[in-house]
Amino acid sequence: MSEDKTVPAVPLEKLVKKYYSEQGMKEWKRLVRDAYHRLEFDTTMHFLRKHLLRKGLILDAGGGPGRYTIALGRLGYHIVLFDLSPEMLKIAEKQVKRAKVQRQVKQIIQGSIDDLSMFRDNTFDGTICLGGALSHILDKNRREKAIDELIRVTKKSSPIFISLIGRLAVLVTELICFPQEIEIEEVFQSIRDTGDYYGGYGFAPCHFYLPEEIEASLKKRKVTILEMVGLEGLSSGHQKETNRLFKKYPKAWKIWWETHLKTCTHPCTVAISEHFLVICKKQSS
Ligand SMILES: C[S@@+](CC[C@H](N)C(=O)[O-])C[C@H]1O[C@@H](n2cnc3c(N)ncnc32)[C@H](O)[C@@H]1O
Repeated sequence: MSEDKTVPAVPLEKLVKKYYSEQGMKEWKRLVRDAYHRLEFDTTMHFLRKHLLRKGLILDAGGGPGRYTIALGRLGYHIVLFDLSPEMLKIAEKQVKRAKVQRQVKQIIQGSIDDLSMFRDNTFDGTICLGGALSHILDKNRREKAIDELIRVTKKSSPIFISLIGRLAVLVTELICFPQEIEIEEVFQSIRDTGDYYGGYGFAPCHFYLPEEIEASLKKRKVTILEMVGLEGLSSGHQKETNRLFKKYPKAWKIWWETHLKTCTHPCTVAISEHFLVICKKQSS
């Protein structure tokens, strides 16, 4: 794979910004599009409720159009919403007003999560970085810096939630939806062997994670991993079947959801999930 083939001339961060500015309202609707996509949102909310303190100031880093900001605002938290894309933040501003939670949203700030220098150490009672915002930083050093920043701004003993796009699930998606891309070295083999995707084939540049990668990265830092969760879990890759169950078999759906909660923390489920969530706690010293 030659260097000029894989690395596009446009800086990768610009491609990420461009992608999300073009997504617009599509990104706002993503998490509630159907029962399958709701699994990511509902499962994340389940674990936010489980691990967040009852109240406090939360940083929604890479919060995009603000689904989680609004949901947490409704639960009574105060939130600072932070994202790279000005277009996403414009949508968020509107949706926050529509949801009437603007008193809960303390600031909306544009920037990149690898530089949170506008916040002091130990500022937030919880930090969330969800939906793969961290995955969109291709450069490993910058990604590691972002992890340091997320930890630095979080108060000691408080939780940090990071959800990432899973590498194995992306390979399966290629098999199911984009078989022609399996022949494209800078797409399929690059993702398979390094996790890196440089854009140009319908998605923003991204580093797709294996669970053990983020685990190793967090274990080097002053945090304790509490749980890892496969957000789509056993449904991962089975969009049609999941939506069919939700629509046609409401009783069975309840049992499936219960099954999902019982299985989503199994290491195999985490590894095959489209998105997986890592929950850790900043150590007290
Ligand atoms: C798939 S969206 C997720 C939005 C939201 N967290 C959610 O889960 O619904 C990814 C978001 O990450 C943002 N993003 C990408 N790279 C970023 C960076 N370096 N710093 C901050 N935000 C970033 C994008 O602008 C986009 O809004």
